[in-house]
Amino acid sequence: MNILHMNLGADSYDIVIERGALQKAGEYLDLDRKVLVLTDDGVPKQYAQTVAAQAKDGFVFTVPQGEDSKSIPQFSMILSDMLKRGFSRKDAVVAVGGGVVGDLAGFVASAYMRGIDFYNIPTTVLSQVDSSIGGKTAVNLDGVKNIVGAFYQPKKVLVDLDLLDTLDDRLVSEGLAEALKMGLTSDEKLFELFEKGNIKESMDEIILRSLMVKKAVVEQDEKEQGLRRILNFGHTIGHGIESCGGLYHGECVAVGMIPMVSDELRPRLIGILVNLRLPSSVNVNPDEIYEAMTHDKKGEGDYVTVTTVPRPGEFEMNRVRFEDLYPMIQMITK
Ligand SMILES: NC(=O)c1ccc[n+]([C@@H]2O[C@H](COP(=O)([O-])OP(=O)(O)OC[C@H]3O[C@@H](n4cnc5c(N)ncnc54)[C@H](O)[C@@H]3O)[C@@H](O)[C@H]2O)c1
Repeated sequence: MNILHMNLGADSYDIVIERGALQKAGEYLDLDRKVLVLTDDGVPKQYAQTVAAQAKDGFVFTVPQGEDSKSIPQFSMILSDMLKRGFSRKDAVVAVGGGVVGDLAGFVASAYMRGIDFYNIPTTVLSQVDSSIGGKTAVNLDGVKNIVGAFYQPKKVLVDLDLLDTLDDRLVSEGLAEALKMGLTSDEKLFELFEKGNIKESMDEIILRSLMVKKAVVEQDEKEQGLRRILNFGHTIGHGIESCGGLYHGECVAVGMIPMVSDELRPRLIGILVNLRLPSSVNVNPDEIYEAMTHDKKGEGDYVTVTTVPRPGEFEMNRVRFEDLYPMIQMITK
């Protein structure tokens, strides 16, 4: 068992990393009250039920799986359910699911009676290494992702790697792309674990090391003023690819990282992607990716700040013109 302590002043909390933690959630979380356990219908039912059964008064609320559940109507339905069940300020919300469930549950907890206790039990690789810690919660509105939300830290996070056993391989790999991202920018040893190749064997260490990177970044920049942007490494071109459809988010990030590393590092990165069965190029017209990328550019005019990685564990942030990214897109399109 490992416990990481997230140091955020009054909002500090522990991240417990332990296989089998779900079975004894009641030992780690204060479930001696009304507890709404939010999950989705793609997560094995027994995970949420196991938590609810350990609560004094536990209720499971299940939303449809998929990004569309991060919506104001779902948010509102969950709040109405809590109100109907007489939830008070002393009660709690627990997320049992991936990033969709975590982002939605966190936002619900932040809003009900101006904020009640929130716990997160992430069940995907992406949510275990990234989205469950850091306190960003949100829903989407009018097709714009994460546009309505709050910074709201959980009271505790339980990371149980046994829950990943039911996840399909493609989802495991796309989540690992985000872990690889953290190794590239911030932890050479983590990068080398990927390079060693036996991912299953290194999984516990990969998740732990990724969490340590994310923790350090969030502690230094809780509200995304600067450093936290390194978590967007690979995402500028990645988002452009994602808008063109067909690939998972993590797969797009994987491809998006390729042009952002040095020429020496690139073959090593591609070797890892191949081993993870992640794509290393896409069959899309570069103009289409460029259009999509510039379409959702965020307020910096013709410029964008991108993170590049000269060597594993080191990063640079540079302001570049969008048009400078075009040859980089050509590098990863067939
Ligand atoms: N808050 C943050 O800091 C942050 C960071 C990154 C991403 N995100 C958000 O995370 C979301 C993506 O999260 P995700 O990749 O976890 O996707 P997800 O939550 O949609 O889960 C992916 C799929 O896996 C299924 N699933 C989940 N756990 C399972 C398990 N153990 N076994 C079998 N199936 C399981 C789900 O039902 C779903 O169909 C996006 O909405 C993104 O915006 C948030």
